[in-house]
Amino acid sequence: MSVLGEHLTDDQAMNLAMLEAEKGAGFVSPNPMVGCVILDSHGRFLSKGYHKIFGGPHAEINALEGLSLEQLESARVFVTLEPCAHEGKTPSCAKALARLPLKEVIYGLVDPNPLVAGSGANIISEAGIKTTLYNKNHENLEEVCEHFLMNFRSQRPFVSVKIASSLDGQLGLKTGESKWITGEVSRQKSRYLRAIHDVTVVGKNTLLMDDPQLNIRHDNFPEKENKILILDSTGECLKFPGLRIFETHRPENIFVAVSDSMNHAEGPAENKTERDSSSLAQVLKVQRHPQGGLNLNELLRKLWKLGVKSVFVEGGAQAVSSFIEQKEAHRLYLFQAPILLGANSGKPWSEGVSIKKMSDRISLKNPKIQRLESDLLITGRLF
Ligand SMILES: NC(=O)c1ccc[n+]([C@@H]2O[C@H](COP(=O)([O-])OP(=O)(O)OC[C@H]3O[C@@H](n4cnc5c(N)ncnc54)[C@H](OP(=O)(O)O)[C@@H]3O)[C@@H](O)[C@H]2O)c1
Repeated sequence: MSVLGEHLTDDQAMNLAMLEAEKGAGFVSPNPMVGCVILDSHGRFLSKGYHKIFGGPHAEINALEGLSLEQLESARVFVTLEPCAHEGKTPSCAKALARLPLKEVIYGLVDPNPLVAGSGANIISEAGIKTTLYNKNHENLEEVCEHFLMNFRSQRPFVSVKIASSLDGQLGLKTGESKWITGEVSRQKSRYLRAIHDVTVVGKNTLLMDDPQLNIRHDNFPEKENKILILDSTGECLKFPGLRIFETHRPENIFVAVSDSMNHAEGPAENKTERDSSSLAQVLKVQRHPQGGLNLNELLRKLWKLGVKSVFVEGGAQAVSSFIEQKEAHRLYLFQAPILLGANSGKPWSEGVSIKKMSDRISLKNPKIQRLESDLLITGRLF
């Protein structure tokens, strides 16, 4: 926690800018999360800011708010992403910075758009202000805006898979009982993660066995509604309109992915008049995958066309496993509780994943471990 006037090193300033950026999670998509920290001419903390809401002022403008030209004389600005050159919903941040008596602007990542990369920095340096691409912590800086970078570079949604597991890798018992594996703090964090993704994905078995609501229920997001996607090749869940998921979410916010061989009508739920099986949800037809289940690549391409930028897969075992097996999962969130459920009695969360040789093992990139009361949250990049 930085206080006005505290001396910060460059690394501390950029780390603080990254923490600021994270505060925009769940509010700025499809824009990137960006944070900014300003130090005065003596390297003392002056202010910080972040991009708070899509369409609202960018991080740099929020950090500059209330500062006088005197305070900004020879100040240094740290920002996690190159200041924008273009005028969109808001004026160009690069032009705003170029008008100030700054000494230096240090930015964490180059604009990912190759057509405009460097233009923001050019506008600032042409005004006589030094611009520096920060040459450390690249992985963590990319991680701050990984949804945006995936969307921009690959034109596809970012996919996170989440599982609550025992120490011995079980997500529940073979009997189907799985409540609760982890403690309340982990479950709250999980609802936070649900809130910062556009769509929550669940397998049919979990839906029918657990009857979850899968809504957000997190104090930071009192108004936010998530979308739901149910993996269900035959559309069986549509026979159960009493499921809590259909009571909790509006039909236009629920997708059911079925096999393209089914004769369910594809199309938006709002075009359907009655709340019968065909009006509970929007049906998406996709091919089956040769290894079983639905073809997730095709499904994600359909979701992208519908404007979905990020997906949070919440189980069960087959759903999570198949996103990993089909190499369509970008980040793993594993909540691990200090309990044992036993290999004979438990259901392993990775039951659908096969590794033939040790050299094929899947290693998390840039793994991080966080303690949540007596649980651990282990996260890292998959593919
Ligand atoms: N601890 C946790 O974090 C956690 C989280 C969620 C659930 N659970 C537990 O997990 C258990 C259920 O897990 P589960 O593995 O049996 O089922 P699941 O993953 O919930 O559902 C699997 C079903 O989804 C359908 N599906 C369609 N396309 C798929 C695809 N590409 N990949 C995977 N599934 C696809 C398949 O049914 P069709 O063939 O009919 O399409 C498949 O049988 C329950 O006991 C639940 O309580 C635990």
